[in-house]
Amino acid sequence: MTAWQDTNLEVEFAGVRMRSPLGVAAQAPFAPPSISVDRMVELLLKHVDEGAGYVHTPYVNAELAHPADKLPTGRFLRAETKLFGKQGMWCTADSYRIEMRLDAGLRLVDRLKKAVPDGVAVIANIMGPGADPDAWAEHAAKFETAGADLIELDVSCPLPASALGAVESYVTERIPEHAGVLLGDIPALTAAVTAAAAKRCGVPVGVKFSPETGFPRLVSFAEQVKDAGAKFITSINAPLSVAPPISTTAGVPCIRHWTPIRSRLRWVPGLAICAIGTSGRSRSSSLGSTRRRLGGWWKASMWSSP
Ligand SMILES: Cc1cc2nc3c(=O)[nH]c(=O)nc-3n(C[C@H](O)[C@H](O)[C@H](O)COP(=O)(O)O)c2cc1C
Repeated sequence: MTAWQDTNLEVEFAGVRMRSPLGVAAQAPFAPPSISVDRMVELLLKHVDEGAGYVHTPYVNAELAHPADKLPTGRFLRAETKLFGKQGMWCTADSYRIEMRLDAGLRLVDRLKKAVPDGVAVIANIMGPGADPDAWAEHAAKFETAGADLIELDVSCPLPASALGAVESYVTERIPEHAGVLLGDIPALTAAVTAAAAKRCGVPVGVKFSPETGFPRLVSFAEQVKDAGAKFITSINAPLSVAPPISTTAGVPCIRHWTPIRSRLRWVPGLAICAIGTSGRSRSSSLGSTRRRLGGWWKASMWSSP
């Protein structure tokens, strides 16, 4: 069997050379304050040792440190479907509680950048603040200074959409600080934020989309962020997957199938695409086995160039 070290998997993605198109997608840990930066570096480097061509940070907001009275909460629900089999479905009520904070996030990027070998990119996955373009630009610039090779704007986290007042925020476009998909499903606001961050940063800036945006809206949305200066898009974040208690499912989680947006995005040439996720379905595929080989705990993702 050929070892991965003997196989040339090198790619150029959004102008950045990576030794492999396989890497680790953003995953906020369940209890950020209890996982030290050292431990996160250690975990991510295990994947680098196994051949990852890039690693994402978890999403980092603009608040300096984690507030002690807002510790993370979350739990796994049992979900069973024919397609997915038995899965623990992770639910957390509040994005704000699990976001990584600025001080830790910048240290993580700095530590990773100093530790990874040539050809491994460090991608800062950032979120907040609200829909303020200047503040986003400033936030992104801090990660570039810390050493990030690419900046990914997480405007697609599904959790803020389940927060109290989410619908009102979305329809009035009064976007809360921890916006996620509430921002990322409004093209004009997302394009403004992207333009500001892309203008400020020398490294490539990309946008991580929500599957909720759907087809064909996503195609024109991709076009708009490209015009705003995005060099890549990431497809895709998690869908809204827990039904509100008042819905017809009586609060039973419903798992939705991905809209096959990856292939549809071929209509926007010139944008690199990072394809994420298997939801555990492709256990026998190369990505599935790579993901297993990389440890399984982290999300796997794969770059493709236009
Ligand atoms: C527990 C968990 C934490 C996640 N944290 C982040 C995050 O910090 N930033 C982000 O952009 N996406 C985050 N995601 C989304 C994943 O990176 C990925 O886009 C999504 O789960 C789809 O991949 P999958 O089909 O493998 O689940 C998270 C997903 C999960 C399940």
